[in-house]
Amino acid sequence: SSIIEWTEAEKYQNSFLIHEEDNTLEFILKNSIAHGLPSHMPVSAGEGKFLNLLIKCLGVKRVLEVGTLGGYSAIWMAKAIPEDGQLVTLELNDTYAQVAKENIKQAGFEARCQVIVGPAHETLTNMRSDIPFDLVFIDADKKSYPKYFREAKRLVKKGGVIIVDNVIRYGNVHDEAVNDENTVGIRKLLADLKEDSRKGEIEATTIPTVGEKGFDGFLYAIRK
Ligand code: DHB
Ligand code: MG
Repeated sequence: SSIIEWTEAEKYQNSFLIHEEDNTLEFILKNSIAHGLPSHMPVSAGEGKFLNLLIKCLGVKRVLEVGTLGGYSAIWMAKAIPEDGQLVTLELNDTYAQVAKENIKQAGFEARCQVIVGPAHETLTNMRSDIPFDLVFIDADKKSYPKYFREAKRLVKKGGVIIVDNVIRYGNVHDEAVNDENTVGIRKLLADLKEDSRKGEIEATTIPTVGEKGFDGFLYAIRK
């Protein structure tokens, strides 16, 4: 099947499973695009809802996100976080961060979301691990994934979850002919994970996905 058909297949599923009482999430996507943010980069609605359900079933209270973009995934997650919970999301691009703040406010979650602007590896390095996160979602520049994952391991609680977006990338990651810095970054992360799992620090699996975003997948890891 072509991507157009996979998009239809995904839309069909969503037509039964994803309904918003308000149109907040749809509005947020449109508002982000209206401000010039890339439309192919936010998570799909299905992945957003997966993160939402995961937070609910694990009783997650504290979430760390690397890569805010327009706040679409942050809002999917914030919807599931209890009122006394917190989501901290890191964004390099000041314009993206401003749009995200506006979107988060529009959705009514500004009290439980903090957007921190700046290079994530600096922000992460300066973050203390004494109040650990229950879940970390990494969805930023792929070349820095090994660094982000290393910090995520330090900042997530034992038994906590780290989700990493875009680890299949249309089949680029396993293709030795593709050697751009982002693809190489994901490959390095996988090599690190092999070592982490050998040392008994991390257990992980990749969930392949197909749909409107093409062929991709995300990694589901737990800190041991
Ligand atoms: C890109 C980044 C993403 O996080 C994503 O989900 C899809 C595409 C990109 O950089 O092209
Ligand atoms: Mg992504």
